[in-house]
Amino acid sequence: MSLTTLRQEIRHWLRKRRAILLAHNYQPPEIQDLADYLGDSLALSMMAANTPAEVIVFCGVHFMAETAAILCPNKTVLLPRLDVGCYMADTITPSLLRERKAQLPGVPVVTYVNSSAAVKADSDICCTSANAIKVVNSLDARRVLMVPDRNLALYTARHTDKEVLNWEGCCNIHDRLSAAEVLACRQAHPEAIFLAHPECRPAVLDLADVIRSTSGMLAYVRRAKATAFIIGTERGIIYTLQKENPTKQFYSPSPGLLCPDMKRITLPDVLTALQENRYQITIEEECRQRALRAVERMLAVPRD
Ligand code: 13P
Ligand code: SF4
Repeated sequence: MSLTTLRQEIRHWLRKRRAILLAHNYQPPEIQDLADYLGDSLALSMMAANTPAEVIVFCGVHFMAETAAILCPNKTVLLPRLDVGCYMADTITPSLLRERKAQLPGVPVVTYVNSSAAVKADSDICCTSANAIKVVNSLDARRVLMVPDRNLALYTARHTDKEVLNWEGCCNIHDRLSAAEVLACRQAHPEAIFLAHPECRPAVLDLADVIRSTSGMLAYVRRAKATAFIIGTERGIIYTLQKENPTKQFYSPSPGLLCPDMKRITLPDVLTALQENRYQITIEEECRQRALRAVERMLAVPRD
């Protein structure tokens, strides 16, 4: 099937199933081009919560589709492949979290959405990279435990008066970006602004001109007068950055900034998902209700 026919077929099935295609900013170009809505984890959760569509086809990783399923029990949430995990989400389990909570009575748990529904269910509130500081500041507590991303917790700790305890999890893609790689890229492109994702290490964030979620980076570059940017996050976002800003230059500081899980879903997978109604992501109801409380509490935190 040609690319044009494949795209037409997918659009036909999206209409037929009253479905919406949501895609994360790291997805491959052909998926980004076809998506009804492209965004970061926060924007995609909000879109899932508010869409009138009956079916949500999620092109991202497993925890993102789970978040949609937590928010939309009456919709069908389809993930075109099941082998799209997240290294960071696997760095914590409900039983490990419960053990840590037992050592910290009364300390609220702020859980990054990059986690399973079962871990969210054992949390007080969720956060994303776009709202972590606001979420922590919204809590009526002096100390909070942030899981599972150590780097996001350390970043948040720098921007709040609260004591932020962390978990030893990370994203292996962002965590391996080194300050030396950033400095080398800066030397090659001294005019460029360095944008970093809060999942990067503190030594990398120390070098950043701007720290943002993926959609935050897109918004920043759209408005910026500068014309060159070093992008300290997964390189898939450079496709949309370049498409939206054809006269600006973008550089990736490391070949390691590539998340294999974010690249697995193909257009034929999307078509099959719609035709065969697969793979439906569902969450056991008691777990969903508890996870929903943590996600809804996050969504209620004012954005600005
Ligand atoms: P954003 O929410 O900033 O898009 O980040 C998601 C993610 O998986 C980062 O690695
Ligand atoms: Fe998970 Fe990292 Fe991939 Fe984001 S880039 S989905 S945090 S493994």
